[in-house]
Parts: sequence; C-alpha cells; structure tokens
Amino acid sequence: MANKLSLTASYIAVKFYGLTLNPKIASFFTPFTISFYEKVVSYLPAKLSWNQKAFRSRFWRSFFVWWEELLLPGDLMHIISRKYYVEHAVQKAINEGCEQLVILGSGFDHLGSLFAAKNIPSFEIDTPSMIQHKQRMLTQNGFKLEHLNLCPIDPANQNINEVLLESGEFDPTKKTVFLAEGFFDYLSLDSTRAILDNISSAGTDLKLISTFFDLGELNFFHRFMFTSGVAMVGETLKLPLSRKEFIDLLNEFDIKTENETSYSKIEQELISKMEIDLPVLKGFYILESSKC
Ligand SMILES: C[S@@+](CC[C@H](N)C(=O)[O-])C[C@H]1O[C@@H](n2cnc3c(N)ncnc32)[C@H](O)[C@@H]1O
Repeated sequence: MANKLSLTASYIAVKFYGLTLNPKIASFFTPFTISFYEKVVSYLPAKLSWNQKAFRSRFWRSFFVWWEELLLPGDLMHIISRKYYVEHAVQKAINEGCEQLVILGSGFDHLGSLFAAKNIPSFEIDTPSMIQHKQRMLTQNGFKLEHLNLCPIDPANQNINEVLLESGEFDPTKKTVFLAEGFFDYLSLDSTRAILDNISSAGTDLKLISTFFDLGELNFFHRFMFTSGVAMVGETLKLPLSRKEFIDLLNEFDIKTENETSYSKIEQELISKMEIDLPVLKGFYILESSKC
C-alpha cells in the first residue's frame, strides 16, 4: 500500500500525452502543459510508460484510438476536454479575484505547478502515496516551486481544512478556487457530503470547479465498460447521483452552479475546431459553482 500509484490518475496522463502527439490537438495546449504530461509519462513504471514509444507510431496511435472508441466512445476526448476547460475555468476564477487554488485528488495534474509558477499559492491534496509519487516526479524533473504545497491526506482520519492549515501557506480569509477534476465520482455520498461541508466552511468566498459523470446517460454496455474499466485498475466509481442530484447536493451547501459545460457543447465548441472526428463521453459535465 505504501507506494500505491493511482492507475486512473496515471492513465489520464498517458492518454493526454498520447493524444497530444496529434498536432491538431496539441495546438490547443501550451508547451508547458504538454511537456508536463510527457514528464509524468516518463516517470511512470515501464508497464505504463511503454506508451511513450509506441504512441510515436501513427499506426499504434490509430489502433489505440480505434480500440478505446470501440469499448467506450468519447472516453479519450473527454480527457482532452477536461484538461482544456478546467485550465481555462481556473484561470477565469483567478482573473475574477480568487487568490489561491486547492486541487482535490490532484493525481498527476499539471495545474498546481502551472499556477504556483504564476505566484498563486496552490495546494494539491491526495493520498500520502500519490503525494509521494508527485513529489518524486517533480524533483526528478527539476521543478522547484515556492508556492506549490503538496498536502497528503489520510481521508479516514483527517479533513481538508486541517491539511490545508498544516501547509502553513493556506489563508482561510482569501477567496479560493477549489478544483475537483475526476474526484467526487470516486467517493461515496457520505464522503462527498463531508468534503463539501469541509470546503464550504474553509473560507467565506469560494469557487468550485468540478467534473461530473452522469452514468445514467450511458447505455448499459458503455456504463458497464466504464465502471468495470475503473474497477479493473482497483478503483470504484461510487457516487450514485445524477447530474441534477449532484447540483442539488451542492445547493445544500449554498454552492450554486453558475455555468455548466456539457459533452455536446464541448463537441460543438472545441472538438469541431480541432477537426477531430471523435465524440466526447456522454454524461460528462464540467460545472462552475460559487459560494459567496
Ligand atoms: C481519477 S484520479 C484524477 C486525478 C486528477 N485530478 C486528474 O484529473 O488528472 C483521482 C485522484 O483522486 C485521489 N483520491 C481518491 N480518493 C481521495 C481522497 N479521499 N482524498 C484525496 N485524494 C483522493 C486518487 O489518489 C487520484 O489521484
């Protein structure tokens, strides 16, 4: 357990890296973002990072895309979409006055490093083993970021406010943007409630950017492929809510959803511009919410 790597977090990096080898997709991301995930993939154990060589071959890339689309259409482009929209949503929150960034279940995400480099105090919260992996990956690649705080949490015994305050840099009086990308879906309803309770009491003024999968919008086969794919790598999709129920749950904590980006909007707005003929996973949403 001590060294446990989250395979869902790892595969997100692997898929993002593989897809951005396509210049049409890469042109929508900065060199920082692309090279960050390349470094993550180099860090991963060989059984995951073999992709780095294989994906350079157009044939293997096309085969991989064909295979993935057969099993779960839209899974690949949903990864590209969330990295694109979430980065823009966080930047918008910062432009609108958020002074610090908290990333829940940060995995191998690049945003903590990106915004810490822009002098925004950034806090990445994940399990102790994942935080250790992230620290090693960053050290191996020469990242030294004064404002990046890697915060291990023991979910069973600690709450988010406690670990944020332990970092020494978190200021509860400052307006904060919380990011939950691919996070709540993996938690039970009770844990989700506990975390929403934590963050809504962490400070007075907050924004929450969250991704959400409404599994009810997938057909039986694709829902089975999604849940069993996650189960095969030792994790579980636990949150039993529809999109509407999740928004109602946020409301219970006075967190109001102001902007919603659905998979169909992403297909029209982003994927068509990339000139990529692939769908985005049905039931996938990005929600931007606030509590004042
Ligand atoms: C699907 S990955 C998403 C990683 C990253 N947010 C991204 O989108 O690239 C989920 C992450 O949440 C972490 N995680 C799961 N349960 C957690 C908990 N209760 N507290 C903190 N992190 C947790 C996992 O270790 C993993 O890194």
